[in-house]
Parts: sequence; structure tokens; C-alpha cells
Amino acid sequence: MSIEFPEGPASRVDASLAYERARVPDGLRLRLDANEGAAPELELVIEALRQAGVDAVRRYPDAKPFEALLAQRFGVDPSQAFVSAGADDVIDRCCRAFLPPAASLLIAEPSFEMFDRYASLCGARVATVPWQPGGFPGDAMVAGLDARVGVIAIVTPNNPTGEVATLDDLRRLASSAPHALVVLDHAYVEFADEDLTMAALEMPNVVVVRTFSKAWGLAGCRVGYALGPTRIIRALRAAGGPYPVSAASLVFATAVLESGPAARDAYVDRIRQERADLYDLLERLGGAPRVSQANFVFAELGARAPAVHGTLVDHGILVRSSSFKSGEPRGLRISLPGDNDAFEMLASALRAALGPGALS
Ligand SMILES: Cc1ncc(COP(=O)(O)O)c(C=O)c1O
Repeated sequence: MSIEFPEGPASRVDASLAYERARVPDGLRLRLDANEGAAPELELVIEALRQAGVDAVRRYPDAKPFEALLAQRFGVDPSQAFVSAGADDVIDRCCRAFLPPAASLLIAEPSFEMFDRYASLCGARVATVPWQPGGFPGDAMVAGLDARVGVIAIVTPNNPTGEVATLDDLRRLASSAPHALVVLDHAYVEFADEDLTMAALEMPNVVVVRTFSKAWGLAGCRVGYALGPTRIIRALRAAGGPYPVSAASLVFATAVLESGPAARDAYVDRIRQERADLYDLLERLGGAPRVSQANFVFAELGARAPAVHGTLVDHGILVRSSSFKSGEPRGLRISLPGDNDAFEMLASALRAALGPGALS
């Protein structure tokens, strides 16, 4: 006799919260909604896979050689580097390892939404501090500390605004909360004026999270990594599956890293120029841009955001609406295309969307 469970198994996670990528509108010509970098040369990745041979398909992956390569680049011991399925998975592991159910995550908002999601999945509380336009809210973050804070997130450059925290901010928070893990999310650091990685590696409770998805153009491969004290890195390793990155992705990431920084540097230079140009254009058009150090610019358009988003879609361009969690989109995050023609297309669509008479 079978036992009936009419309602089926009850999930402890809210199924309505599954992350969904934006729907791609018909006729899309330019996708500027995910801050993806420029692709490496196709020949480079194909040749790397050919060299690796079918073992890259047949065997379980071994991330150790790639971790050793990264460790060498940053002058740390290989036990201080951990590679995982994107910075996303590293952040997830930080939460799993350092956020017991009664603990809380402290983060300045708006910021990268996955912190909130992963902390909530751990049953932890999310404590937020408003990040107003301009400098990182260091004082308010320190004031927000208590014994329950298990993880402190510092996302710099920040997503979605592109604004940054300073070394002083990092030092202050790390030393004020020696019991907590400070996650320095440096996903966009290659585009920024200052890289805090080496200073962070001197701190006993800080882990640096970086990625190959942005400046290195490998978002589809899912390769991110953590650098930090061995004790913390070991906990991250233990906080998830043993083979988070596919062997093929490791082959591609190794190939782009070993091909040297020239292509990446040229792309980063191009992005920095576009960033200044887009900022000026938005300012001239009354688009209220934030000063960004990432590969995107945030335009704080308030109630105009949905209409501008729609006009850009009509021009075949998709950008990201940002809600700052309040429901209504309050702005648009526009990834920089890294290409002359594409930038011109974006600029003319923005002129049409925001220029005189556009929204009257
Ligand atoms: C601030 C920030 N951190 C982490 C990530 C995740 O990057 P990855 O593609 O390596 O998972 C992103 C992706 O958009 C991001 O914006």
C-alpha cells in the first residue's frame, strides 16, 4: 500500500526566488546587462583544449596547478588560493562556512545581490547600511557591528554603482571585527584605480574574491577564486563540492592567464575611456551618473528608468534595471561595450532616450 503525500515534499527554500536572467528581447543587437568582458581569441581557447586532449573531458578536474599559478602571481603559498565556480560560488562558500543560522551578514546597500541570497539560504540575517552616492559608509558599517556579525561584505568597485571603498575602510572594518570574516569582493578591480589585494593578504580575517568573468572575458566558464589565510581557504574548500570548476574551464583560464596581460590591458584601457565618455554623456543628458571604477556606469534615473530602458530596447540594446530592492527600478546599470561602433550605437540610443523632448 502506498502512502500519499498530497502536497509533495516541502522545500526549505523559497522557489520563487530562483535567479533568472533577463529575457532577451526580439531584435537584440547589444547586450549590456551583465558586465561581461571581451572574449579571448577563439583560436587561443580551441588550441588550449586541443593541447589538453580528451583527458580534460574524461578525468575529474585537478584545480591545483591553476591554483599554484594564481598563488605564484600574487606571491602567496598555494594553500592560500582556492578556485571555484565563479566568484558566486566563492561567496556562497564564505556564507556557508562563516554564517551559522543565528549569525548575520553585514553589507552596504545597494550592492551585489548574491550576498543577500546566499546569506539567507544559510538562515542568517542580513544587516544593511545605506551606501549613499559617494564614499563607502565606513562609520555606519563599524557602528553596525555586533557579536553576531559573521561575515562583512565589502564590494569594491561596487555593483551596481561602481563606487569604491578605500584601504582605510578595509583596515578599519577588519580590525574592528576580528571575529568576523571580511569578504573583499574585487570582481571589478582590474578596472579600478586601486587594487587592495596585496594589503588585504596581510590581514588575518580577510579573504579576497576575484574572477575571470569580467576583465578576462570568461563568464561562461565560471572561474572565480579566493586568496587569503590558509585556515580560511581550507574552510572554503570544505564548504562545497570537490570539483566546482570543469577541467575545460581550467584549461581556458590557464590559457588566457599564460597568454599574458596585453589583451586584457588593452580592453581595460578601452573600458576606462568609454567609462569617462559615458559619464560625460549621461551628465550632459541629465542622466545622473554615479562615478564608477568598474566596467559599467549606473544612471540614477528614478521614475524615468523604465521608459529609458524601453527606448534602449527599441534600439536593440539591453541594460540592467536596478531596483535597490525597493520594488520600482530607480536606475539603469549600463555595461560598457568595449568597442567603438557599439559605443556609438549606445550613445545615439541614449541621446534618443534622454535628449530634448525624449520623455515629454
Ligand atoms: C560584485 C560581483 N561579485 C561577484 C560576481 C560574480 O562573478 P562570477 O561570474 O565570477 O560568479 C559578480 C557578477 O556579476 C559581481 O558583480
